[in-house]
Amino acid sequence: MKIFIDSADVTELKALAATGLVDGVTTNPSLVAKSGRNFFESLKEICAAIPGPISAEVVAQDAETMLAEGRKLRKVADNIVVKLPLTPDGLKACKVLEDEGTPTNVTLCFSAVQALLAAKAGATFISPFLGRLDDGGQDGMELIREIRTIYDIYDYRTQVLAASIRSANHVRDAALAGADCATIPVAVFKSLYKHHLTDAGLEAFLKDWKATGQSIL
Ligand code: E4P
Repeated sequence: MKIFIDSADVTELKALAATGLVDGVTTNPSLVAKSGRNFFESLKEICAAIPGPISAEVVAQDAETMLAEGRKLRKVADNIVVKLPLTPDGLKACKVLEDEGTPTNVTLCFSAVQALLAAKAGATFISPFLGRLDDGGQDGMELIREIRTIYDIYDYRTQVLAASIRSANHVRDAALAGADCATIPVAVFKSLYKHHLTDAGLEAFLKDWKATGQSIL
């Protein structure tokens, strides 16, 4: 499963790029606002730091303006993916951009039939929002399973990008459900390394090694 980071914070993203584990980045207008930076400047820096797909979201509501925004965003770098909302206009723009060779990420997906439409529009990625469904008392992971089943039955190539991830368990369950990618907030990414038995085991190994009085280098 590909790991994307859900952030528009260039400093954080550059630091995580050094792990060698980051396959891409997703941004959204709220994350851009939180970063306090100029959108285009940040995007250029993120695209240069991380070679994988970098999703940049349009803010227009009508297909024509979405296309103009998407084409402008795509000019920032070759690894830009244009993120479009799951609306009739968003899917219209999706089809045109994909036909032009621009990859798209259809966002704000909350149902399997919405995901079906995005696949039919030729989206490169579909972003089902797990956490927001869970927040509303629904089962976000069930949506991933439904989309996986539908895409496999009809052999749709659209990649399932599990989004609105809140925990390491979400990452585990999305991987088990067959998501192609998960976009993860920085704190959740860092938590993926953690296990108390790893810490305790390492401490014991180092203590025992010290007692041998030896050194490797
Ligand atoms: C996806 O691309 C979105 O940026 C993101 O995952 C939304 O997550 P949230 O529900 O935590 O805002």
